[in-house]
Amino acid sequence: MHILIRKFQPSDHEAVRALFRDGIQEHIIPSFTHAISQPLHITVTLCFFTVGYILGGGSVVLALLAGGLWIGLLYYCCYEFYAGYVRLKLNTDMQDIAGFYLSSPDNCFWVAEAEINDQPQIMGIVAVEGKEPPDGGQKCGELFRMSVSSASRHTGLGSQLGQTVVNFCKERGFSKIVLHTSSTQSAAVALYYKMGFKLVQTPEEAEAPWWFLWLVRVSLLRMEKILQPCKDM
Ligand SMILES: CC(C)(COP(=O)(O)OP(=O)(O)OC[C@H]1O[C@@H](n2cnc3c(N)ncnc32)[C@H](O)[C@@H]1OP(=O)(O)O)[C@@H](O)C(=O)NCCC(=O)NCCS
Repeated sequence: MHILIRKFQPSDHEAVRALFRDGIQEHIIPSFTHAISQPLHITVTLCFFTVGYILGGGSVVLALLAGGLWIGLLYYCCYEFYAGYVRLKLNTDMQDIAGFYLSSPDNCFWVAEAEINDQPQIMGIVAVEGKEPPDGGQKCGELFRMSVSSASRHTGLGSQLGQTVVNFCKERGFSKIVLHTSSTQSAAVALYYKMGFKLVQTPEEAEAPWWFLWLVRVSLLRMEKILQPCKDM
């Protein structure tokens, strides 16, 4: 299948938003199964069942209700962690993609397009925003919105989109590329390591409170790739 990586066009808007939403929200169920299978959360679940049973005077229904409440809370937190992020971003940079990513030469948004049954389809997306470091010095690029449709995974498309960002950042003379992801996004983390990104720290400025992250059992990750300038620059 021939895939063309090109800049975002306004007609891509809905397909791009759907690909972003699906790529993030697919992590809800895996993160819930990960959280619920942690020894601490298994213990808490059993405690809820036991307390419900005792306080309910030996009622199995109340025991199930108490355990179910805890499991429901965990699911809600996992759901909100990803769906809340999607809501926030669909109402900010992903609301006016051209306005946010294509109005400055330091930003860009790309789509990967394939012809399927003679119809062009968006199979992948990625974006970059050029940023001034807080301590001054050379600009860096922040990679955002990496997502590949499930039908096109494991074909090297994620790597091609990543390389597109690397080439752009080198051309702009950026010193490095940074990105934020989460420990549950294991395919993305593996892709970034393969591209030469390194884990630098867990960011302090999480959008969710600490107890929320503790319940979901997820770590936020910041990764960086230092760039060698282009030879002709
Ligand atoms: C992450 C993602 C973009 C990877 O896209 P892809 O097109 O499948 O990636 P590639 O085919 O280029 O794979 C490149 C490397 O990534 C790693 N990788 C990709 N999918 C993987 C998986 N499911 N498990 C482990 N490693 C994986 C491998 O190292 C792979 O190299 P290999 O093929 O030599 O083993 C895709 O899985 C995706 O869209 N995920 C959902 C959205 C998301 O989480 N985005 C990240 C936002 S921070």
